[in-house]
Amino acid sequence: RAMAILKGMEQKSETSLEKLRQLADAMNVEMHAGLASEGGSKLKMLISYVDKLPTGDERGLFYALDLGGTNFRVMRVKLGGKEQRVVKQESAEVSIPPELMVGTSDQLFDYIAEALAKFVATEGEDLHPEPDRQRELGFTFSFPVKQTSIASGTLIRWTKGFSIEDTVGQDVVAELTKAMRRKNLNMRVSALVNDTVGTLAGGRYDDQNVIAAVILGTGTNAAYVERAHTIPKWHGPLPKSGEMVINMEWGNFRSSYLPISEYDTALDAESLNPGEQIYEKMISGMYLGEIVRRVLCRMAEEASFFGDTVPEKLKIPFILRTPEMSAMHQDTSPDLKVVAAKLKAIFGISNTSLRMRKAIVELCDIVSTRGARLAAAGIFGIVKKLGRDSGEVEKQKSVIALDGGLYEHYTKFRECMVGSLKELLGSELAESIVVEHFNDGSGIGAALLAASNCLFQYLNA
Ligand code: BG6
Ligand code: GLC
Repeated sequence: RAMAILKGMEQKSETSLEKLRQLADAMNVEMHAGLASEGGSKLKMLISYVDKLPTGDERGLFYALDLGGTNFRVMRVKLGGKEQRVVKQESAEVSIPPELMVGTSDQLFDYIAEALAKFVATEGEDLHPEPDRQRELGFTFSFPVKQTSIASGTLIRWTKGFSIEDTVGQDVVAELTKAMRRKNLNMRVSALVNDTVGTLAGGRYDDQNVIAAVILGTGTNAAYVERAHTIPKWHGPLPKSGEMVINMEWGNFRSSYLPISEYDTALDAESLNPGEQIYEKMISGMYLGEIVRRVLCRMAEEASFFGDTVPEKLKIPFILRTPEMSAMHQDTSPDLKVVAAKLKAIFGISNTSLRMRKAIVELCDIVSTRGARLAAAGIFGIVKKLGRDSGEVEKQKSVIALDGGLYEHYTKFRECMVGSLKELLGSELAESIVVEHFNDGSGIGAALLAASNCLFQYLNA
C-alpha cells in the first residue's frame, strides 16, 4: 500500500520530453503575453530599467546589499576599470531572524540598515578617498517589484517565507533610505535590482556571451536580455543599446501541462501565498523537502509505513529541509546510513528497514527529478523566445548564468537539470547553449549596476 502511494506520486510527476516541450512552448506564449500588457499574463515580465550591462569600464568603490533568502549579504567592491577589474572585494553574511520575516516593514529595514552600518564602519582607509562622501549602494531585492526607475520600485507582493503586509505597495528603496537615515548611514541607492538581474549583470561582466540568468535557490526565477522594440508595454524611449533586461518572475508561471499532484495542491493551499508561485513551489529549495514530507506523511497515515502510529514530527510542515532531502537522496552507503541518521535526527524515526530507506531515496529522486526537469523546460522556453533554437544563430554561443543554493549544492538536481536541458536542445545546439555557475554574481552585479548608474562614477575612482 505504501509503495502504491509512492508509485502514484511517480506517475503524477511524469515529465516526458514531450511534456517539457509543451511547457517550454507555454512559457514562450506567456512571455509574449506578459510583455504585451500589464497583467497580460501570470508572468509579470517586469521591466528592470537595466538597459546597459557592465562593460568592464566601471570604476570606484561601491556597496551592495542582497536581500532575498534567510540570509542577507553586504558587500563592498573596489572596481578598477578594464585593467584592474575587481581590485578588492569584501563581504559579510547576516541571518534574518524568522520573526522579522513576518513582522513590520520598519523592523526589517532597521535591522538591515543597522547590519549595513556596522559593515560600512569596517571600511579600510585605503578604500575611500573622502571618508565623508556619500557611498553608493546597489540593492538586490529578490522579490517581485514594479520598477519606476533604475533606483526605485514598489513591492508587488512578498514570496518565499516573507509576509510583511505594510511593505506591499511601498517603494522599497524609500523604505531602506528612511531606515539608513534612522541609523545615520550616509548612503544612496543607485540601483535596485532583482537577484536574477544582478546575476545577469555579474555574469556579463565575466563573459559577454551571457544572455540570461536563472536562480535556483530558496525561490526560483529568471531574467534575460530582450530586444526593447519587441516589448509592447514599454512606452519609454528606446534605449541606445536597443536592449532591456526583463525580470520574468517565472516562479508564478502556471500551465495545465504542469504535473501537479494532490501534495502540491495541499502545500499551496496551506502556504503563505496560496494560488501564487505554483511553478516555484514545484521546483525551488524552499519547497522540495516539504513535498517529500507530505508524501511520507500520507504513507505513514494511510499505509502505516512507519508502524502503527504516525511519528508526531512528520506532521510538522517544513521540518524536512531540502539540504537534508539532498543528503538522503545522495546517500551512497550500501545500507543507506545517511537516510537512517536523517530519519532519526529529523523525525525521531528509528528501526527502518533497508527496503523502507530505499523507498525514501526513490521518493526524493521523484520529487527532485520533476523539479529539475521543469526548470530545464523554463530555460528552453527562454532560448526559444530569443530564437536561439533556430538554425541561423545555431553557432552563436549563449551562456545562461546560474546561481542559488539548490543549484550549487544539490548535485543530483543540478545534473538532472543540465542533462534535461541538453535533451531539449539536442546535441548540436547543446554545444553552443550552455549553463554556467556564477557564484554570488548578484552581489557584484548589483555593485556594477550601481557603478553605471551612480552620480559620481569618475569622482569615485
Ligand atoms: C546567491 C545570490 O548566490 O543565490 C543571491 O547571490 C540569490 O542573490 C541567492 O538570492 C539565491 O539562493 P538561496 O539559495 O540563498 O535562495
Ligand atoms: C522568488 C522571488 C524572485 C526571486 C526568486 C529567487 O521567486 O519572487 O524575485 O528572483 O525568488 O530568489
